[in-house]
Amino acid sequence: MKIELNNKKVIFINDHNKTEIHPIWLRERVRDEKFLDKNNDQRLFDPSFLNNIIIKNAKINNNILDLTFSDGITSKFDINKLTSEFLDTESLSNTVKQKLWDSSLKNNPTYKFNENFSNSKDMFDLLKSFYKYGFVIVKNVPTENNYIVNFANSIGSIRPTNFGDFFNVRSVPNPNDLAYTSLALSPHTDNPYRKPVPCIQLLHCIESEVSGGFSTLVDGFKVATYLKENNPEYFKILTKIKVKFKFIDKDVILENKGELIELDKKNNFKQIRFNTRLDYVPLLEKNQLELYYKARKEISNLYNSEKFRIKFKLAPGDIMMVDNHRLLHGRTAYDTNEGKRFLQGCYIDHDSSEGKLRHLKRKFNL
Ligand SMILES: [Fe+2]
Repeated sequence: MKIELNNKKVIFINDHNKTEIHPIWLRERVRDEKFLDKNNDQRLFDPSFLNNIIIKNAKINNNILDLTFSDGITSKFDINKLTSEFLDTESLSNTVKQKLWDSSLKNNPTYKFNENFSNSKDMFDLLKSFYKYGFVIVKNVPTENNYIVNFANSIGSIRPTNFGDFFNVRSVPNPNDLAYTSLALSPHTDNPYRKPVPCIQLLHCIESEVSGGFSTLVDGFKVATYLKENNPEYFKILTKIKVKFKFIDKDVILENKGELIELDKKNNFKQIRFNTRLDYVPLLEKNQLELYYKARKEISNLYNSEKFRIKFKLAPGDIMMVDNHRLLHGRTAYDTNEGKRFLQGCYIDHDSSEGKLRHLKRKFNL
């Protein structure tokens, strides 16, 4: 990777590909005081009004590109910075590589809470692990006064829902959700009916006196990869059909649609949805539905199989942070006669955690 000049054209060379960098692309990145507010890195001019910009003069010295543009502006550019932007090295996917896992995962990524956790190197490492594995566990978090709210807000901003800023998970009479019973919960993603679907779930164990009630997690991207390799037809239909998810309460009706396996434009995994208590597939041709139902059955079997599921017990003080767009979570049943089981949960968005990760990367110069 390098940048070279060719008759006042700036050429970016990556392997054997040569690309001329558009003069406006460079002109709008002029960082001199007159053009950029140093406090917030925002432009002090509107580059959409620039036109017919060409490069009048160009030289390279010691990794600095020195340009004079046709509107008379002269500026210096750090070639390393330009290269980094060109290659998108600062993006999350280039900062953290996902590691897909199944039940052979040996050690759960675990961190210990301390008073100065929020802006520490530990928090940076935690967020990196979170994006690598799709979950982390934080031990010894204070359990008093709904501390989960403080914890969530120390990463970013809590995402309130119609349940409020946070929700309590314990068995109650006449529950409006199966979470508030003592029944086993098979692996699912939370709230696919919300728009947008909450990105990250935090669950804080406050009390745990029962012998059951184990937490379960499944890496949805790993299962989807397995399905793609072993049954491409099933995989394909689950990535194509948008399913409606619906939640009905006495005060609200929530609804959203999405694929059980959502891909981005480059066919990378974007989001998993799975909640078979609330999904309504559209009325398609019978043979299409036949295939869809077989595919859903297969992926459900995979999500519920021992091959992919990990199981562990949260202790009082533990916070489990789960990527709700990638992982499925559940729990085993428990016996309310054995004692109390009480967890508190809330949501934050990737906006928060990615923003914090970038900030800490900058802070520690990593
Ligand atoms: Fe849940």
